[in-house]
Amino acid sequence: MSFKEELLKKTEEIEELLKGYLPREEGFQKTVLEAMNYSILAGGKRLRPMLMQETYRMFGGKEKIVEPFMAAIEMIHTYSLVHDDLPAMDNDEYRRGKKTTHAVYGEAFGILAGDALLNFAFETAAEAVEREPDARTARALGILARKAGIYGMIGGQVVDVESEGQPLSREKLDFIYRLKTSALIESSMTIGAVLAGAGEEAVRAVERVAGDVGLAFQIQDDILDVTSTLEVLGKPIHSDDKNQKTTYVTLEGLEKARKDVAEISARALETLSALECRNVFLEELIRMLITREK
Ligand code: IPE
Ligand code: IPE
Ligand code: MG
Ligand code: MG
Ligand code: MG
Repeated sequence: MSFKEELLKKTEEIEELLKGYLPREEGFQKTVLEAMNYSILAGGKRLRPMLMQETYRMFGGKEKIVEPFMAAIEMIHTYSLVHDDLPAMDNDEYRRGKKTTHAVYGEAFGILAGDALLNFAFETAAEAVEREPDARTARALGILARKAGIYGMIGGQVVDVESEGQPLSREKLDFIYRLKTSALIESSMTIGAVLAGAGEEAVRAVERVAGDVGLAFQIQDDILDVTSTLEVLGKPIHSDDKNQKTTYVTLEGLEKARKDVAEISARALETLSALECRNVFLEELIRMLITREK
């Protein structure tokens, strides 16, 4: 099977897995359940659950315990997008090739569906911990919580929003990217490693790999915001310009941004290759992200 075929197959498998964790659309609160499922089922690359699963497999993980955590990280990621698109934040109308959640269900339901996805992620993960209470699942739950929070993704979004329309130093921009984007990728990969029983040093190396993957991923996202199209990307281009954001591209230029995506990804692959175990698909996935078009 070629890498592309394998990627497609794995993405479809994750898609099926996610469906099994979604709430049923019934009861008086039905509308918010529909909005949650709408935003999750709209598609997306499923990169974070995939990175979690591949890291888990790299360290020899073979059980189903990783699955609820895969669903949980995609719920948290999707909530972050639903809120990121709100009128008070980036104010975008398209996501994953469809109208954004608030555009379809109204702003209040954009807020509530985001809240609901975040909470449901923890309901899902907590159930897994209750089913298999041990040090690994407990630690995974802690990572999931911290990397999404004020010292993780939310912290990055705060500084991102607060910096709109203002000049930004490279140092602060790096801080934003490490938090708003790398944190959830670090969460994904370290949870995979922890659940598989990886040693302490390996978990720390995986966190460094993920930090770099996230940084390169966000720089590429900035590049695509100026070079892609709504049709290919599934979300509006020039969103950053509209919101007067300083990005890696406005700060360093397109050429350097491209070069740095390749360099930072190469650094991630190097750190990964120093580990005792290997996962060739994971390596190819990280390499593919350098030239991704969506
Ligand atoms: C978008 O993430 C937000 C960023 C961190 C740049 P993705 O590009 O992974 O979005 P989906 O999940 O594929 O829609
Ligand atoms: C935010 O970055 C990523 C999140 C943490 C939600 P962007 O605002 O650049 O993400 P897109 O371009 O809307 O996907
Ligand atoms: Mg944003
Ligand atoms: Mg945005
Ligand atoms: Mg963007």
